Amino acid sequence: MSQDIFYPDRELFKNSPIPDMESYRKLVKEFEDDYEGTWAKFAREKIDWFKPFDSILDESNAPFYKWFSGGELNVAHQCIDRHLSTKKNKAAIIFEGDNGDQRILTYRELAYEVNKTANMFKNEFGVKKGDRVVIYMPMIPESAIVMLACAKIGAIHSVVFGGFSADALRDRIIDANAKLIVTADGAFRKGRPYMLKPVVDKALESGCDSVEKVCIVERNGEDIDWIAGRDYSYNELIKHQSSKCEAEPMEAEEPLFLLYTSGSTGKPKGVQHSQAGYILWAQMTMEWVFDIQDNDTYWCTADIGWITGHTYIVYGPLASGATTVMFEGVPTFPDAGRCWRMVEEYQINQFYTAPTAIRLLHKMGEDEPKKYDLSSLRVLGTVGEPIDPPAWKWYYEVVGGSRCPIVDTYWQTETGGHMISPIPSATPIKPSSATFPLPGIMGEVIEKDGTPTPIGEKGYMCFTKPWPSMIRTIWNDPERFKKSYFGDCKKDGKPVYFSGDGAMVDEDGYITITGRTDDVINVSGHRIGTAEIEASIKKHPNVASVAVVGKPHEIKGEGIFAYIVLKDAPKSDEVADDLETMKEINQIIKSDIGAIALCDGMAFVPDLPKTRSGKIMRRILRSIIKGEKITQDISTLEDPTIVSKIEEIVRG
Ligand code: PRX
Repeated sequence: MSQDIFYPDRELFKNSPIPDMESYRKLVKEFEDDYEGTWAKFAREKIDWFKPFDSILDESNAPFYKWFSGGELNVAHQCIDRHLSTKKNKAAIIFEGDNGDQRILTYRELAYEVNKTANMFKNEFGVKKGDRVVIYMPMIPESAIVMLACAKIGAIHSVVFGGFSADALRDRIIDANAKLIVTADGAFRKGRPYMLKPVVDKALESGCDSVEKVCIVERNGEDIDWIAGRDYSYNELIKHQSSKCEAEPMEAEEPLFLLYTSGSTGKPKGVQHSQAGYILWAQMTMEWVFDIQDNDTYWCTADIGWITGHTYIVYGPLASGATTVMFEGVPTFPDAGRCWRMVEEYQINQFYTAPTAIRLLHKMGEDEPKKYDLSSLRVLGTVGEPIDPPAWKWYYEVVGGSRCPIVDTYWQTETGGHMISPIPSATPIKPSSATFPLPGIMGEVIEKDGTPTPIGEKGYMCFTKPWPSMIRTIWNDPERFKKSYFGDCKKDGKPVYFSGDGAMVDEDGYITITGRTDDVINVSGHRIGTAEIEASIKKHPNVASVAVVGKPHEIKGEGIFAYIVLKDAPKSDEVADDLETMKEINQIIKSDIGAIALCDGMAFVPDLPKTRSGKIMRRILRSIIKGEKITQDISTLEDPTIVSKIEEIVRG
């Protein structure tokens, strides 16, 4: 199937901004011929500037690039206020709760709620421009409202995924030196309430001295503890706020938000995004990649706690004046037809999800989509990990009725928006390839010295020119920013952005992402650093050493597998199958990071394969768990016999 090419159906894409490959090539060329001028043209056309910018791209302090310096704007104004003259009664957010409850907020209502919330932050909590606000929320409209309220007053938000533990939340609060935490009592999942506020209480038990107030949105109505002078009810305070709020003029380069992501060392990185460059690309990609039209209803199933939720549930759709659907719960409750029922009910035109969800829905309900009218769908999207051919085929044929192009969007927390993706109206699609870099994005598969990687071979996925929505720095750690992204690859002697992914180009120029080249694993489309999990496992009193690797997983794409040497393990070949210890270790991971980092498998081994200098040979461990033949030279190991011993334990 990977040889097949799928062409767009012109009838579905009559008003597209990039209607065919010729227009795509023309636009690519326009950027090549006048890179800055073309970006400036789009920036002027798309953004409602309060003050025009003086320079386009400032490379004087590379890699700390600046875009549109001197310009002033406000992202909440760009996403809401500027639409009020033309779309005030259009649905901005359609919300469906876990139990089927529904709320629809028009642009006018969204403006009203955001303004009141912004005033609450200023007047009740003393939040000022540049202050950090941590948002630990479920998937309810207030999450978007709170993000936009921060944008309106120039506060920097840092959304922490609701599945992270108290310890993980605490680390992120401390790193950002946050002043205010916004949370909810809890929410609903699979018909039952779950809690968030107690996690915040636990996180704040120690070390979070910067936090002055906690603001709590009511969602599930369960009992929570209230600490006098610290905890305040959103629902009460909002009643007394004015619905008028001037948008704070923000300089193009001031930070809009931080979003923490795993790196290859233990500490998560606070990825810092800008105002103008970020919102510009969020809006442009919404228009190009999802072909969003005025009457469309668009649904991205991500969680607000990840970059996909930021750019493609909140900022991109609203900046484009679109209707965005928000969903609380899981796609398999009350049954595997939940998503397809929602597509029918809301007449969804663009549906954007992760391969892991597609695999799960496929497995749980092969024919489920056929029970619903899915004829409103025009574009299907995937994100976060490679999509395997069986999942692609089912998504294309059964969900999309062999009619809708699948946009396999490759990007990262750091890139802010899509980088490599088909344009549904133009690009002939090869399954499992993200196809070509979007116009304006200089994506190249190269060797570390910048020479192009030969066709069909694995190279490094690099972006050789800065782009407006790129990460600006790592919060509090500019040196790590330089080292993490600009330390590995060069072109023409100049450091270029390396994504951390390997990639391959075929004879037609199609790019396929081959996966991470560092010690980061991709679990259900989420990045998790092996070092972070290892640090957690080492906290168990009986663990002497550990190495964590990714393991192929039918639904998650990659699962987490730990090779563990116990302190009291017998030194012989015999190793205890200690279920109790496994449970204890997973419990530590759950409380340190969260359930997303739980190990799918563990092996207690007599030792790890180490070189004489003590370096763990993870490649060998990866090969063992994948059942691959060991091709690495094991003669350099301190104890070469360890490899077969481990193989026996794992495969035995
Ligand atoms: O390895 C790539 C993979 O996900 C990583 C980025 O993860 P994160 O920052 O959490 O953002 C996920 C949502 C954008 C990348 O380095 N990845 C993302 N999209 C794809 C992908 N791998 C293959 N194909 C994709 N379409």
